[in-house]
Amino acid sequence: MTGYDVLAEVYEWLISDAKLTPAEFAAAFADVTCLLPSNAQVLDCSCGTGQLAVGLAGLGMQVVATDASAAMVRRTERLAEETGASFLTVRADWEELTDHFGDASFDMVFCVGNSLHHAEGARGRVAALESMSRLLRRGGRLVLTSRNWELVRSRGSRLDISDRMVRRNGRDGLVIYRWEIAPQWEQEHRIEIAVVQVEGDGSVLVRSELLSCWPYQYGELESELHSVGLRVEKSTFDPEAEGYVVVATKE
Ligand SMILES: C[S@@+](CC[C@H](N)C(=O)[O-])C[C@H]1O[C@@H](n2cnc3c(N)ncnc32)[C@H](O)[C@@H]1O
Repeated sequence: MTGYDVLAEVYEWLISDAKLTPAEFAAAFADVTCLLPSNAQVLDCSCGTGQLAVGLAGLGMQVVATDASAAMVRRTERLAEETGASFLTVRADWEELTDHFGDASFDMVFCVGNSLHHAEGARGRVAALESMSRLLRRGGRLVLTSRNWELVRSRGSRLDISDRMVRRNGRDGLVIYRWEIAPQWEQEHRIEIAVVQVEGDGSVLVRSELLSCWPYQYGELESELHSVGLRVEKSTFDPEAEGYVVVATKE
């Protein structure tokens, strides 16, 4: 079982209100999607539960949604069916994408929502970025969002318990993150994520998963993008902010 197959069941408790609605999720990227031709070919290569893919399809784009987790792909398919959206879904690791799609197939590739740190070390990350780059046509753009790992690492290993219950589908869930921060940047780090729900009869239901991740510094990401033929066109990186968006253009 790959990471996220358990969390896929309770993923809505882990995402912000703004990401729950497909139209709102897609609107968060309006500054880049407005640059696309109508009928653009776009790929969401870590589609999770599918809200962004469905939102982009709602804007008239030709969407493909992929993810390494079969359970996430099934959730995306379910959301597409419920909302009447129609697009191709494929279960694929980033490094497998080029087995499924030809070079220069897409105008825009999205890798958003703290996904890239799951690529295994610098080698895995560059291989993932290389696949994404190959799939972009010249002038196409990769849109990537990331945690600010400089900040995350500075806080060290810790337990983060949400200070209020998250309500989804009429049920409350308590969200817990346990961070295992390794001494060195390049070492495997781990995040254990749990969603705890209390049933009407007082019994407690816990869904949790231990995920591996390999953090990177912003400067490293910039040079890795450059090494695979992607030029950073826009970045919101700020050393004090929790996360950032990078838009990189295929040269
Ligand atoms: C934090 S979730 C983000 C999901 C979605 N993009 C969002 O913003 O809500 C990370 C996603 O990356 C996927 N993922 C992790 N490793 C991957 C890999 N090597 N190739 C493709 N997808 C991967 C996970 O299955 C998961 O759906």
